[in-house]
Amino acid sequence: MGYVPKPRVGSVGALFVLHSYKKADGSFDYERYRKIQEEGNVRKIENVWVIEENIAFLADYLKKNLSSLRFGICHGTRRGKEQEWFRKYLGIDVIGTEISSTATTFPNTIQWDFHNVKTEWIDAVDFIYSNSFDHSFDPEKCLNAWMSCVRPGGFCILEHSTAHEASGASELDPFGASVVAMPYLIGTWSKGKYAVREVLAAPATTPANLRKLTHISFIVIQRL
Ligand SMILES: C[S@@+](CC[C@H](N)C(=O)[O-])C[C@H]1O[C@@H](n2cnc3c(N)ncnc32)[C@H](O)[C@@H]1O
Repeated sequence: MGYVPKPRVGSVGALFVLHSYKKADGSFDYERYRKIQEEGNVRKIENVWVIEENIAFLADYLKKNLSSLRFGICHGTRRGKEQEWFRKYLGIDVIGTEISSTATTFPNTIQWDFHNVKTEWIDAVDFIYSNSFDHSFDPEKCLNAWMSCVRPGGFCILEHSTAHEASGASELDPFGASVVAMPYLIGTWSKGKYAVREVLAAPATTPANLRKLTHISFIVIQRL
């Protein structure tokens, strides 16, 4: 039988799940998390999830809604197509982070665990984009790390689809939540520092070589 994630018990019940990686003594097994991500990345290295039409759409949204755009970060980028396309449509510096050792084979990509923050990123990033938030082992810590980098007024855009729901969670994709639960979770994590600005429907919903998804939404979170 495959892996069945246990619903996290809390005030939102089974609306989200979070897989935990534990050693025999109950402590967090970071090496296991890292190994599973690396293996998954290598196994799927030919896949591209992100859709160019959607990045063009988001680039247009950013140009219309942010006054100055100089630097962006995409998190969990595998082949690095999102930073390539944001660079193409925005004409600015955009880099990607990727935990796997394959990172260095793709342009503008650094090998980096996105739960961590570089000092020079703090308050210095105009926008963050990720379709890999479901790979976080601690989504509250992760979003707070990302929002500490977004400059006041800037945006973090989380891509959310059918595959990011609780039913899509696994050891490889430890966090899964219903799209309707996301604004609630973000509100409880923010402590007044950021808020959901709006949720956009993606123009394209079929990643290359993959099935058509019921929806892709972009949750736009603004740093207050
Ligand atoms: C679902 S794939 C998406 C890849 C890419 N964004 C795309 O659209 O094709 C998730 C990626 O996030 C990477 N990843 C997982 N955990 C990560 C972490 N903590 N820090 C950085 N990258 C991570 C994985 O190795 C994988 O390449």
